[in-house]
Amino acid sequence: MLSPAQNPHTGLAALLAPIEASLASPPALAQVLAGLAHAGALDDAAFYPAPRLDRYARRLIWHDPGDRFVVVGFTWAPGQVSALHDHAGLAGAEVVVEGTMKETLYELVARDEERYRFVEGTSRMSGRGATGVLQPPREHHAFGNPGTVAARTLHVYCGNLTSSLSFERQGEWWSAKQIDLTYDA
Ligand SMILES: [Fe+2]
Repeated sequence: MLSPAQNPHTGLAALLAPIEASLASPPALAQVLAGLAHAGALDDAAFYPAPRLDRYARRLIWHDPGDRFVVVGFTWAPGQVSALHDHAGLAGAEVVVEGTMKETLYELVARDEERYRFVEGTSRMSGRGATGVLQPPREHHAFGNPGTVAARTLHVYCGNLTSSLSFERQGEWWSAKQIDLTYDA
């Protein structure tokens, strides 16, 4: 992770100020991220430099010392997708910085011990500046790069997201597996 002073381009501190100011409202946070993406202010953020071939890359761009939020950059090769997952109950927002992404929303409608049931919601393809909002209990989605070129997305989670549940469909129900999140240096 780069410190604000080390950021070689736009200055990380300049990005963090509006993010911090909007943490209380995920829709407002999403709007801030959209504005930054459209202005090109996220282009030089410290993303993993090139797509990994084996899986999408996640790099920690900023970890608030008070654990109020983390900023994570994702780098996606064409065809890389996430499974349906949650965000450990954290609010947040994400924005497409480069490329085309597809997001499919899911609503959790039932839980029976370790089994979960979802209703698939809307799917959309979107490019630079498009945002998604995490507002628990609405925090379940699948996200990926269906395009033919690499994509980059920036995610702000309102807390230190260290693990999430990844869901696999088994008939009408889904099973969950806890995934400990790691970062690519
Ligand atoms: Fe996600």
